Amino acid sequence: MRADAMMRRNIPLIIPMPNAPAILTPDAETWAPDSWRARPALQLPTYPDPAALQGVLEELHALPPLVTSWEILALKQQLADAQDGKRFLLQGGDCAETFAECNSPVISNRLKVLLQMSVVLVHGLKLPVVRVGRFAGQYAKPRSADMETIGDVTLPSYRGDMVNGPAFTAEARIPDPRRMIKAHARSAMTMNFVRSLIDGGFADLHHPEYWDLGWVGKAELAEEYQRMVGAIGDAVRFMETLSGAQLHNVNRVDFYTSHEALLLPYEEAQSRQVPRQHGWFNLSTHYPWIGMRTAALDGAHVEYFRGVRNPIAIKIGPSVNPDQLLRLIDVLNPDDEPGRLAFIHRMGAVHVANKLPPLLDAIKRDGRRVLWICDPMHGNTEATSNGYKTRRFDNIRGELEQSFDLHAAAGTRLGGVHLELTGEDVTECLGGARELTERDLERAYRSTVDPRLNYEQALEIAMLIVRKRGHIASA
Ligand code: PEP
Ligand code: CO
Repeated sequence: MRADAMMRRNIPLIIPMPNAPAILTPDAETWAPDSWRARPALQLPTYPDPAALQGVLEELHALPPLVTSWEILALKQQLADAQDGKRFLLQGGDCAETFAECNSPVISNRLKVLLQMSVVLVHGLKLPVVRVGRFAGQYAKPRSADMETIGDVTLPSYRGDMVNGPAFTAEARIPDPRRMIKAHARSAMTMNFVRSLIDGGFADLHHPEYWDLGWVGKAELAEEYQRMVGAIGDAVRFMETLSGAQLHNVNRVDFYTSHEALLLPYEEAQSRQVPRQHGWFNLSTHYPWIGMRTAALDGAHVEYFRGVRNPIAIKIGPSVNPDQLLRLIDVLNPDDEPGRLAFIHRMGAVHVANKLPPLLDAIKRDGRRVLWICDPMHGNTEATSNGYKTRRFDNIRGELEQSFDLHAAAGTRLGGVHLELTGEDVTECLGGARELTERDLERAYRSTVDPRLNYEQALEIAMLIVRKRGHIASA
């Protein structure tokens, strides 16, 4: 393809420049899908073969999108409702999807847990739930260190299956652009399977037994869950008897996708304009988020996201200050559009009581419209004495409970949760109903990156949200 033709199609001619100088004032006139390339871009790999990268980006650009603009706008409306307290957001899935685990049991078990949690939330909160999976694209990971050392060997870190391989060999760790094509295909397969399951009646409230997971839960949790499902079934049948017709919308639920939009060349190649809509959409996922490590105001990620119309979320940690948040809102939601912007706070159980209130106060004082989401996972990661990266259930619960209280005290609203979880019977987080110990971690630790809640722990969190939020609502 000729260079001018590439320009017209917005295919970049240059490879990322991680150390490019910052241009500070964003200007709506100057945004383009590739304008991020003039900004400092953290956490991006350097591909050894620029021509191969270029070929892949052209191929990606020509492939069909994974989602549509009308789905994205429908989600944005639901997120606006969550901001207003009319819905609650449940966002969850793996820390990192892997190519090897793009298979039927992993995908359907994850969907089952999310459906079970959402039933608990709908029933307990008496609110519709916005369901967003961390899946169908969650393949790129930010890392705290660029290099990893084992013994006397040091290699580049694993950055997610979309970038390089997890095996600790020099070859596996070389960034390979073809992995983007594979990630796009795996995302499409995952989404296709999720859509087919849901369209085929998997989420039908007449048949909650479809979502039972193979292993038996701790009696108390299982009983409480069965009681809720029974009550919902009774309500559905009662309404059907009363109206003499089947309730059609109870076998249809909406499910949206999300991933950390880290690998900007991939995201850029999926940026599209669509007929009868103004502006640009990122059609690789419904709900992209910006990770904590790449949320700098003058950085490449914020530059890219100010120009697409998707709803977006930003992870914020204990080092952020109120002024930075206000300036992020200026850049990312200058028109104060409902549903556009969320902050996902992930402070850690130890810091949340100190760090969160000044942020809530500043945003409230300024009358800004954001959706507040709590991620009680990422501020609570620690290493055990036997070398596992883990999280204590008590800290996860502690951060979540404190967050509800802190929002209530500030007069703001916690509108959703963001969790790392799996439908598999893993032992990665300590504690919970089964009181998993450090010894248990050895049994089924499978995550390639962060420790996830297993099925029982995830359900326990859903029940805890109901108790906590119910208590606050009635106070
Ligand atoms: C993640 O969500 O897996 C992650 C890396 O989060 P954060 O950006 O909050 O550290
Ligand atoms: Co993670």
